[in-house]
Amino acid sequence: MDRRRFLRNLLSGATIAALGPALLHGADAFAGDPAEFAAGLREHPYLAGWRQVSAEAFGPTTVQIEGRLPADFAGTLYRNGPAWFERDGFRYEHWFDGDGMVHGWRFGNGTVTHRGRMVQTPKFKRERSAGRFNTLAAGTTVADPVALRNNDDASTANTSVVVIGGRLFALSEAGSAFELDPDALDTIGPRTWRPDLQALPFSAHPLQDRDGSWWNFGALSMLGGAGLLVWHIGRDGQLIDAQVHDMGAPGYLHAFVQTDRYLVFLLTPFDYTPAGSFFESLTFAPQRASTVLVVDKTAPDRVARRFEVEFTMAYHFGDAFERDGEITVRTMRLADVARARSPHREAMFGHHGPAAPAELVELRLDMRTGRGRWETTGLGGMEFPMFDARTPSNRGARLYTPTNAGDATAPYFNAVQMIDPVAGRRELHRYGRDILAEEHVFIPRPGSTRPDDGWLVGTLLDPTRDRSGIAVLDAQHIGDGPIATAWLPYAFPLGFHGHFAQAAA
Ligand SMILES: [Fe+2]
Repeated sequence: MDRRRFLRNLLSGATIAALGPALLHGADAFAGDPAEFAAGLREHPYLAGWRQVSAEAFGPTTVQIEGRLPADFAGTLYRNGPAWFERDGFRYEHWFDGDGMVHGWRFGNGTVTHRGRMVQTPKFKRERSAGRFNTLAAGTTVADPVALRNNDDASTANTSVVVIGGRLFALSEAGSAFELDPDALDTIGPRTWRPDLQALPFSAHPLQDRDGSWWNFGALSMLGGAGLLVWHIGRDGQLIDAQVHDMGAPGYLHAFVQTDRYLVFLLTPFDYTPAGSFFESLTFAPQRASTVLVVDKTAPDRVARRFEVEFTMAYHFGDAFERDGEITVRTMRLADVARARSPHREAMFGHHGPAAPAELVELRLDMRTGRGRWETTGLGGMEFPMFDARTPSNRGARLYTPTNAGDATAPYFNAVQMIDPVAGRRELHRYGRDILAEEHVFIPRPGSTRPDDGWLVGTLLDPTRDRSGIAVLDAQHIGDGPIATAWLPYAFPLGFHGHFAQAAA
């Protein structure tokens, strides 16, 4: 059997195995109640972060920038996040279930122009016609789900965005990238990189290599298998390579890291008892070790090293670097493993819940001995780490993350920080008690090669004035606060991840 056919058979088998039991399961739906959420929102305005959008489209809306942007700052911040949570009196109970809305914030001439569009996935269109949710969801049991042909039939396309080869894609965990028009944000459709790889997972955290090409993975453990698909896409947007590795046992992963030479995958062990949706069926297994797979970029068809390390659950990673045969991986460990299964679950129900930010930990992998160990940093209260990819590959990068500082009305972030592991320095800007601060993307200054010379751009939610906004900070002077801020005349729910596409010079 040729390799491509083998790959196709392996993958389609894994897909069917996964969707079958879930579809056969006829459990009653148990979910949130829109009226209960609305009551909670009146008491806690910050719950606007988890409120359903009021329309399928926002804008284009052009607003003035307060402050001043440098002339060489130009481009569009694209962002994605779950935005459609309710239909027919039924509210999803898991934040990850909401259908994705992609936003574009285009900067130019002292203004910013915002657009938001629901991604028109097969799921979204089918459910709009049906007037109810009728599709298997990641974290909520949905009654009487329709039969699905493949993963893309269930995709919410709600997690992130990326521009590859000038084309814009909405990304999520379990299916294809969905291509969108980069200006109007209209949905073009799922991207098939090669015919035998149709509808396979193309995850939400691709990494760009120094040569401009992109690495990504697809986790077949979400589909009932224990395979890890590794994608390599050229800077021109054409597939270079796709390989499948055996995880050994099902392991959960949401993102990964790279050094100049290696890709590193941290697999979190879990037990799976079919009981409705994927996250309802899953229990992370802290009594077992986590597995780390290291793949050499020059030989992506095999695993170079496999490590067993102390259990850790993390959705997101910072940077990784290699020195003297040791790889250091920096990640956001979630201490409350049970809660990690459904972040901000209380908010989805309209209840006030605790904050559950992650702590920064470092994984040291000795490539000569095959031993791995964790080290703590003592730094907590953060998530969504970003860094400057121009940082030299033999040392830790500065990390930029939303964080908590001082009083906060919401169990969410209200500040942004820079952590410099080399200098042992931290710098912070606090937006205020009532402001919710999201991921801040690092943008390199055009023409500069100096690491960390650039800006941060991050989105904000101001529930007291029911408006969403955006801020730009000089990455070298975060403590000075934003150099530019813009607020829209409307609000939409919190999102997950963004990508900044710089305008051509
Ligand atoms: Fe993520």
